[in-house]
Order: sequence, then structure tokens, then C-alpha cells
Amino acid sequence: MKVSINANTQTAAAWLKKISTLRPTLAIVLGSGFHHALTELRVDKKIAYAKIPGFPKPTVSGHAGELYFGHLGKTPVMVLSGRAHFYEGHEMERVTFAVRTLSAFGITDLLLTNAAGGINKKFRAGDFMVLTDHINLMGANPLRGPQHKNLPRFVDLTEAYDKKLREVLLQAGKISKQKLQQGVYLAVSGPSYETPAEIRAFAALGADAVGMSTVPEAIAARQCGLRVAGVSCITNLAAGIGKEKLSHTEVLETAERVKKSGAKLIKNFAELYGIHLTQRRKGAKNL
Ligand code: HPA
Repeated sequence: MKVSINANTQTAAAWLKKISTLRPTLAIVLGSGFHHALTELRVDKKIAYAKIPGFPKPTVSGHAGELYFGHLGKTPVMVLSGRAHFYEGHEMERVTFAVRTLSAFGITDLLLTNAAGGINKKFRAGDFMVLTDHINLMGANPLRGPQHKNLPRFVDLTEAYDKKLREVLLQAGKISKQKLQQGVYLAVSGPSYETPAEIRAFAALGADAVGMSTVPEAIAARQCGLRVAGVSCITNLAAGIGKEKLSHTEVLETAERVKKSGAKLIKNFAELYGIHLTQRRKGAKNL
């Protein structure tokens, strides 16, 4: 008999609660371009995904597959270094398993980061883009299938990316004098890159950047009631926008070049989040 994914995420969350006494409300998923944030993290505990019951093991280079408990500044956080992608052949249930576990653990706010190709002609490789919205062209929806117990069947995505958290991201950029782009992230399944004709079509649809992750996690997180923020590292210009052919090597090279900016942005975000949270707990309504 198939065990319900709900039961498994509860098991994984209970297991994680025994690993650390920290009870963060913020979790951050690190994609390409953001792993350097780990150098800013005061680590309490580090666990390989392989050890966490039910967690999928990522197979892509640049994706370590480790979960951390720690502090960024004074803010307690859970950091997921690496994710399971749909293009690796994982079912959507697996791709979103970590996010559902975070929700079961008690996380209320989720920052998703990724590498993406720039479609908007104003974007340059090395820019960072705060997600304002998304377009799901992965050809699959993570909520398809048996209904999750106690969770809505039909999930509103009018504000998939939380306005207040987006403001915190923009504030975080200002602190380190980083100009952040904002825009719509379009998700494809990959793993091939797009054709120039596809990119022209995506531009006409209103997309500013294209990538192969984040959207399933964002949708599952919204179903669980988490607040979501997203940020892309524009590692390359999308197919046909620049003169170059696309390669994973270029993606990794750009990610390496801007790794310090990505790390700073994440650290500033977590610190500001912590400040807002403390103020909210004291009764202020600013987050
Ligand atoms: N297309 C899709 N995914 C990506 C890209 C791209 O150009 N760059 C980084 N991830």
C-alpha cells in the first residue's frame, strides 16, 4: 500500500526536531549562485539529505544535498543546500517533499533561490531578480493527485510571492547597494535549454526569466499556507537573447563570479526578516 506523503513529511519533520533545538520560522533553499551563503551561516547542525527519512537525493553538480540549522546574523534559519529537480526524473511529490516537511516542522516563511536565464533585455548576466510572479510551463502541477489531508484542493496563487517578503528582499538589496531586478519567472521542465523561438514566445507571454525549478516548491508551499519569496541569479542571457550558446558551465561560472553578492543578499534578508519578526511579536504590523 502506498503510504501517504503527508505521513512521511510528518515523520521527516519529527526526525528533524530531534536533530536541533532551534525552531526557525524561516527556511531558505539555495540554488546555483547562492550556495556561498553557507559561509555566512553560523552552523548549529548539518545533515545530509540521505539521512533524513524520505528526502530525495539531488544528483546535479553544484547541488550538495545538505540541510543546515543555524543563524544568519541573529536570525535562526533552516538552510537547504540543493534541491530535487523535476528534470532529474523525480515525481512532483518528491520535488516538493522537502517543502512539505518544512511546513510540518513549523516553518512559516520560505525563501526560494535559483539560477535563471534572462529574457528581459534589460537584464545582464550576474543580476539578481526578485520574483513578482510566475508562469508554470513545466507541464505538471505539484498538487495533481490525491488530495492532501486538511489542505485545500484548489489553491489561490494571486499573490504567490508574498508582497511583504518581497519588500524585505528589496530592502536587503539596498543595504548592500545591490540593484535588484524584479520580474516574472517562467518555469520549464528542462533539462534542455530553450530554443530562441521558445524564448521569444515566453517574452510575449510576459516572462522576464526562465528556469527549471522553484515553481513546484512555491505552489506546494502556498498550499501549506507558507509565505514565499523567490530570487533568481541571472546566470546567462536566455537562448537567442545573447550571442553565446548556453551551457551549464556558463551558469556555474556566473554563479561563482557573483557568489559574494548572492550570499550578502541572503544574509541581509535573513537579518531584516529577524528584525521584522521581533517587531511583529511585539505587536507591530510591519511584516
Ligand atoms: N534556461 C533554463 N534554465 C536555466 C537557464 C536558462 O537559460 N539558466 C539557468 N537555468
